[in-house]
Amino acid sequence: MAANRTFSIIKPDATRRNITGAVTKMLEEAGLRVVASKRIHMSREQAEEFYGVHRERPFFNDLVTFMISGPVVVQVLEGENAVQRNRDIMGATNPANADVGTIRKELAESIEANSVHGSDSDENAATEIAFFFKPEEIVG
Ligand code: CMP
Repeated sequence: MAANRTFSIIKPDATRRNITGAVTKMLEEAGLRVVASKRIHMSREQAEEFYGVHRERPFFNDLVTFMISGPVVVQVLEGENAVQRNRDIMGATNPANADVGTIRKELAESIEANSVHGSDSDENAATEIAFFFKPEEIVG
């Protein structure tokens, strides 16, 4: 399969613990290439829009508050089967259920402070990439 792209966020629990390099190393070792990256501090409005699909979920307000509690690193990752490859190295949403060797098992703190976000489909990857990056900011 040709190389394609996915979208990743290194979350505030990881920036707070200064482990963005450790996370990125695991992504790279899983065969993903960082073709865009920036450290930002999301506004509440931005986080609410980004996670809009979860608006009705009971954890929505806590999720948004957590995601704006500190800086994040937004990234575009490129590689063969990038969406699935990234989901595999991230591990299950709840680190308690994640496989050994995954980012969430090795580094995450909780289901909320779970260190990384990754797109769940090619379609959502395209939407999420466009939410944070202009085409010229992505250099493959
Ligand atoms: P993420 O992939 O960023 O997408 C939505 C996030 O909601 C998810 O990761 C979790 O970190 C967060 N979250 C917090 N509580 C829950 C929960 N009870 N179930 C699922 N996701 C949760």
